[in-house]
Amino acid sequence: MQTGVTNAPPTAQRIGVPREIFPLEKRVATVPDVVGKLIKLGFAVSVESGAGDAASISDDAYRAAGARVESDAAALWACSDIVFKVRAPSSDEVALMHAGQALVSYIWPAQNPELLKTLAARQVTVLAIDALPRTLSRAQKMDALTSQAGVSGYRAVVEAANAFGRFFNGQITAAGKVAPAKVFIAGAGVAGLAAIGTAASLGAIVRANDTRAEVADQVVSLGGEFVKVDYEEEGSGGGGYAKVMSEGFQQAQRAMYAKQAKEVDIIITTALIPGKPAPKLITAEMVMSMKPGSVIVDMAAEQGGNCELTEPGQSVVKHGVTIVGYTDLVSRLATQSSTLYATNLFRLCEELCKTKDGVINVNMEDEAIRGLTVTKQGSITWPAPAPKVAAAPVVAKPAAAAPAAKKGGHGGGDAEPMAGSKLAIVFGVAAALFWLIGASAPKEFLSHFTVFVLACFVGYMVVWNVKPALHTPLMSVTNAISSIIAIGALVQISPIVGAVGRPDELIRWVAGAGIVLTAINMFGGFAVTQRMLAMFRK
Ligand code: NAI
Repeated sequence: MQTGVTNAPPTAQRIGVPREIFPLEKRVATVPDVVGKLIKLGFAVSVESGAGDAASISDDAYRAAGARVESDAAALWACSDIVFKVRAPSSDEVALMHAGQALVSYIWPAQNPELLKTLAARQVTVLAIDALPRTLSRAQKMDALTSQAGVSGYRAVVEAANAFGRFFNGQITAAGKVAPAKVFIAGAGVAGLAAIGTAASLGAIVRANDTRAEVADQVVSLGGEFVKVDYEEEGSGGGGYAKVMSEGFQQAQRAMYAKQAKEVDIIITTALIPGKPAPKLITAEMVMSMKPGSVIVDMAAEQGGNCELTEPGQSVVKHGVTIVGYTDLVSRLATQSSTLYATNLFRLCEELCKTKDGVINVNMEDEAIRGLTVTKQGSITWPAPAPKVAAAPVVAKPAAAAPAAKKGGHGGGDAEPMAGSKLAIVFGVAAALFWLIGASAPKEFLSHFTVFVLACFVGYMVVWNVKPALHTPLMSVTNAISSIIAIGALVQISPIVGAVGRPDELIRWVAGAGIVLTAINMFGGFAVTQRMLAMFRK
């Protein structure tokens, strides 16, 4: 058995997938489609009998995909070189592990220091899928936190719809007019964004709030409205996560949430800062102020809840409001979430086994693998050093605690103004350059140059004021407009040219080809723009 760079002959390792034993957990760490892919990577695969039952995947389906079905957990753990799991192992499962084995599962090392010590003592290598450095763009395909949160955000809306006594969309029927439901989402991380998209696609009016202002564009692009807290404070704590906000901000946020609670029909809360108890955003008074029949789905129930009245794992009715605190939302779509999780682990396997010979190499030089590895053959390697390349936006300096003031530029973005002295130097250099060109260039060139400079300026101003989310459709439409060059080809091919002197055959053919290509560019560009704008309008 090898879990690292080794001199032993490369013999195929066996990946084992046990049945999850955590209460209410219905997911399984691999699915038949992925079994085939793992075998192609050179691995042998074993599955504990009944592992997929709760996700509607039979032992026979695994067998048909090429996996061996083991009779019980003891047999499975004993024969596996690498174990794929969903939940962190229980003490009974840890007892089944053997030295040199590798484990890939959720671990939550910050919250489970004792588990980490026990695993290290058993001389095993553990890759915690929740410790993946999410800001590395290359790691996104392995990001199980994201894939699972997306499923739970969707399911939260389905649970809300189930408990709500009305339609989500507005309707005009013979029996009367139905107003659309109003949904407020607290926290626009992965689960929150999935919930916004789902609620908007069902026809509800969706509003959302997050302490990280950078998510406002994403909320809008999914069909929601971003509701700001009337207090200026940067909410990003780095790495795509939030930070604990000041008391002043929290007060202003409570006032805004109290107003929303009175207006909306459904609140879905997803607010969380990893490693911290969930912030209490919805107070008992806010619940009392909601209309009878309203619904709250508190996704942060497991971490203490965002609502004061949530009962984790339960759906309760308090003051006429249904408060759903289920902690197994992902398991309520077990087939889907298992498939996504299995694919995340397969992508990780590709990174661990680049040689495709069925032997993993836990390469600690690789930033993604390093981040995931919490114990390696007996030593605790968590926490990993912060990754060097972060795709997260640069953290702006926290603004002074003052009431919000509107910012201009780049769709309301937070661009730092250029320092006065720097601006003066840029203008000075530009002026000197223009003087030089004006003094030495020929007259004909100057008129073209003036048009060019003006076009650059106008183009810059137009693009700068377009919301970043619309930059891609803007690019495709400018691409289509650039097909104006077709006029050149039309002039070349035109019979009018023949009156003066027909162009030779070669030019006509080249011009013909030019027209065909620019036509594709033109119609394709407009078609793509239309499709993209339709997506934004949803
Ligand atoms: P995430 O970290 O991507 O999103 C959390 C969001 O909350 C972030 O955008 C953050 O900026 C925001 N936030 C933090 N403090 C805030 C505050 N005071 N006010 C407003 N926004 C605030 O996390 P993700 O993956 O979207 O998960 C969201 C929640 O859902 C977590 O509590 C997670 O544990 C839970 N979850 C629950 C499941 C269930 O079955 N109930 C299943 C999966 C996730």
